[in-house]
Amino acid sequence: MSQPYLIQFESIGSSELGFISVGQEFENIPFSIKRTYWTYYTPQSIKRGGHANIDKELVLVAVSGNIRITTELIDGSRAEFKLESPDVGLYLPKLCWHTMQYSHSAVQLVIASNEYDEADYIRDYNQFINYFAIEK
Ligand code: TYD
Repeated sequence: MSQPYLIQFESIGSSELGFISVGQEFENIPFSIKRTYWTYYTPQSIKRGGHANIDKELVLVAVSGNIRITTELIDGSRAEFKLESPDVGLYLPKLCWHTMQYSHSAVQLVIASNEYDEADYIRDYNQFINYFAIEK
């Protein structure tokens, strides 16, 4: 079972000129990139996520501000991450329950392996932890 892990992107540039970081499929992004989207203006009191995707892998990047992320896999393994630099991403495998909380004015970029499909979401935690028992 793949685990979530942090990706260190190269920072190309200098503090005088500014920087660019690059995500490339099958290089530092471990899947074919199908869709990107970004979230912003999320109040600090709000916890987003609270779901897993059956057949979608993600890389999250805090392009501005910082993001606290919790992850849980079906085997019960849990982890917490804090994204606080635009040159770091977090890989989330398929079937990874995750939540995100944002600092004031944080902007989150999401790089996804698949198109949006609501049928691919598990939004009920009990359904998630019993996913294989229910599916088989
Ligand atoms: P969701 O993936 O649950 O966001 P988060 O993980 O940040 O909590 O999506 C939030 C809403 O946006 C939900 O109603 C579905 C919709 N949505 C789209 O319409 N298209 C998309 O590509 C995505 C990712 C979400």
